[in-house]
Amino acid sequence: MTSSNTVSTAKLREAAEDAYAEEIAALIASDDRPRPPNWRMSPRAVVTYLMGGTLPSGFAVTPKYIGDRRLMEVAVATLATDRALLLLGVPGTAKSWVSEHLAAAICGTSRLIVQGTAGTSEEAIRYGWNYALLLAKGPSRAAVVGSPILRAMEAGRIARVEELTRIPSETQDSFITVLSEKTLPIPELDAEVSAAKGFNLIATANNRDRGVNELSSALKRRFNTVVLPPPATVEAEIAIVESRVAALGRAFEIPAEPPGADEIRRVVTIFRELREGVTLDGKSKVKQPSGTLSTAEAISVVGGGLALAAHFGDGRLSARDLVSGLGGAVVKDPVQDAIVWREYLETVVKERDGWKDFYKAARASA
Ligand SMILES: Nc1ncnc2c1ncn2[C@@H]1O[C@H](COP(=O)(O)OP(=O)(O)O)[C@@H](O)[C@H]1O
Ligand SMILES: [Mg+2]
Repeated sequence: MTSSNTVSTAKLREAAEDAYAEEIAALIASDDRPRPPNWRMSPRAVVTYLMGGTLPSGFAVTPKYIGDRRLMEVAVATLATDRALLLLGVPGTAKSWVSEHLAAAICGTSRLIVQGTAGTSEEAIRYGWNYALLLAKGPSRAAVVGSPILRAMEAGRIARVEELTRIPSETQDSFITVLSEKTLPIPELDAEVSAAKGFNLIATANNRDRGVNELSSALKRRFNTVVLPPPATVEAEIAIVESRVAALGRAFEIPAEPPGADEIRRVVTIFRELREGVTLDGKSKVKQPSGTLSTAEAISVVGGGLALAAHFGDGRLSARDLVSGLGGAVVKDPVQDAIVWREYLETVVKERDGWKDFYKAARASA
């Protein structure tokens, strides 16, 4: 937190290639394995970037993805072929996060991105026009405004598509030519852009989204799918929350002590028990709320609690700082989920050794 009156222009959120520029440079410097055309580092170095490790120089690379290394190897190997990569999974399983880091490590930019929504147009995928130029001089290459996909093709880089299945099916079909022919026709100019070596695409999609547009089988065939699972164990999930909250605390300059491991453990325990519908010891069933209760939400609950503790408490994360965020994460449907949450508090939290403070705080705020 800055105490002076000067306005800081530091970025609220840096892109991965900027935030981890030092790691990327160190990996490139120590990389002696073959690189696919236009890649900045070898596939093995990309996996080290994602999973973390120590370089021969002693330089420590932090882990970005916490989970199965093999999934990352398959993802990276896919991108070194002519098949595109589809990262699939429930919300909050690090699909966007992994996509960003893959692009940053492989081609130096994670910013060639198309955000998929119901309103994503073909222009956003192909190209649009600079109408002033178009009207003044007629169709010309200079008047073409390339989409991030087109720019990635020209430069031989990785393009990203977020939430591919939210894009209407007809619009999704624009990707078929791009991925099968590796060209993008510009009929108005009787021309086409051929992708430079190194071009590929990473798409993400939620397999929980309701009312989304299925991928056509023609498009599905162009992708290798890697399913990112929710964290397998409590310990893995705690490690993820811990490392992300620490990074967020630094990024937002929150003047609080890092949360104690037991506070994070409690949040993760609650999330997992409600998500799975059974207590961690396997002894009691609990009702499941309607929301997904993803790891990403656990990160926000702890991060939000930390901000409360810093600005309105004594700087130490307490049960009271966590419960409002927790209630908000659990209760998505104001009627049904409120009952589920209340029941969980009364049957599980209340009876648990050492959780009295938590129960009291939750009761007081519920
Ligand atoms: N296995 C994991 N390893 C590292 N971080 C994770 C993992 N799972 C979730 N996260 C964290 O959760 C947050 C949300 O992930 P995100 O990529 O937005 O989810 P998705 O796109 O799958 O919905 C990110 O900050 C990410 O660091
Ligand atoms: Mg995402």
